[in-house]
Amino acid sequence: MTARVDARTAVAELRAAIEMLDGVVQLRLEERRGGITGRPLSIETGDEGIPPLSRYEGTGPLAAAIGVAGLTAPEALVLLAAIAPSVDERFAVAFGLLTDRPGVTGLTGEVARTLVARSFAGRLDANALLSEHGALRRSGLLVVDGADGLDGVLRPEPALRAWVLGLAPPAQTVTPDFPARPLATVHSMTDVVVPARTSDQLRELEARIRLRERVSDDWGFAAHHDGASGVIALFHGPPGTGKTMTAAAVAGAVGLPAYIIDLSALVSKYIGETEKALAKVFDRAAREHCVLVFDEADAVFGTRTEVSDAHDRYANQEVSYLLTRVESHPGVVILTSNLLANIDQAFQRRIAVMIEFPAPGRAERERIWRGILPSRTPVSADVAFDVLAERFALTGAQIRDAAIEAAYLAAASDAAVSHDLLVTAVRRQYAKAGRTVPS
Ligand SMILES: Nc1ncnc2c1ncn2[C@@H]1O[C@H](COP(=O)(O)OP(=O)(O)O)[C@@H](O)[C@H]1O
Ligand SMILES: [Mg+2]
Repeated sequence: MTARVDARTAVAELRAAIEMLDGVVQLRLEERRGGITGRPLSIETGDEGIPPLSRYEGTGPLAAAIGVAGLTAPEALVLLAAIAPSVDERFAVAFGLLTDRPGVTGLTGEVARTLVARSFAGRLDANALLSEHGALRRSGLLVVDGADGLDGVLRPEPALRAWVLGLAPPAQTVTPDFPARPLATVHSMTDVVVPARTSDQLRELEARIRLRERVSDDWGFAAHHDGASGVIALFHGPPGTGKTMTAAAVAGAVGLPAYIIDLSALVSKYIGETEKALAKVFDRAAREHCVLVFDEADAVFGTRTEVSDAHDRYANQEVSYLLTRVESHPGVVILTSNLLANIDQAFQRRIAVMIEFPAPGRAERERIWRGILPSRTPVSADVAFDVLAERFALTGAQIRDAAIEAAYLAAASDAAVSHDLLVTAVRRQYAKAGRTVPS
């Protein structure tokens, strides 16, 4: 499973596809030269003169995009045509020659319809395909610039365009339109300190992700069973035990980019918009082989509420959509939750790997303490990590926060991090959590 398709594959695929498109454009231009009689409007769906879907099969990004979105042959051709002017401007000009409207360049809906269909029935189908209910626009793969209907220019979504051209995808920030952001971390799996049982399970999860392609694709499990192509994992345990950190580290370990879904951005009034935004995230994750992380997933994967008002009903509808997409997602999905009991029982059955992150015991706390200060930090000789670990039952997140606080205290007085400063910082953690400091 490779996150990035290598550049040569992308270029070779694109070249073949562009030549194929060029053939279709030339054919349509010839048909136009034949005049109105050269293009009889047959009432049956005949041979529309477009390449079959099998022509797009391969290992490149275009094939991945078409496969993930489950496009039909005419849809695939429209997608390719929308991307083509980014490869060669002459396509924009050639598209203009396929219409009698003056001043048109680029792929308008009208031109797209002419490209994919020559029969009457085919052109009717093309109208549906180009409407906002068609797969291309519903999933946000194409957007219409300017006038809606057949006059607007069809453009590929920027991330899709970059992916197919083999370029780095544009930086992604959270918007209502794309409620996810890249999950980056400085941590690797060796930084994660957990009890033996948890680390055994994490190793198993890593192996499962690495072997996913062999079992689901090469051995045919994906085609033989529903929902067998992806891996759904749940990390559960108290706050601050390293669940989010580990989700990012696992993705890094298997060499895949990770996206974290912003669940708060999902609470949108516009139900249709939310589904469309989620579809974008899932589609992009599938074609770019991203790990999808639903942090603090209780909110949506929790026991569903009784419908009491219209808003709840919308919320439930969104949740159903989300569950369906998670279950059928061909990639890796990691959920985190502070309480296993919060996760819907029915949904728990779909989770292949459940990993508990318990509050760290004395031994784990000492290991976390020992790894918490960067090597360049000045540390005085009196610091006794074993004593700190023994005395204070903190979580990993609290230990990290205490270490950062102690470092600032030390820097402010131009001193090294001492045992006393660490104890002072730990006391503040207790105060923050509203707990009393053990004597
Ligand atoms: N088990 C752990 N091992 C090492 N560091 C940890 C651990 N748990 C937490 N930390 C530290 O605390 C930070 C916050 O933890 P986080 O992953 O947000 O916990 P959670 O998601 O369980 O609430 C981590 O980035 C890391 O620096
Ligand atoms: Mg977290």
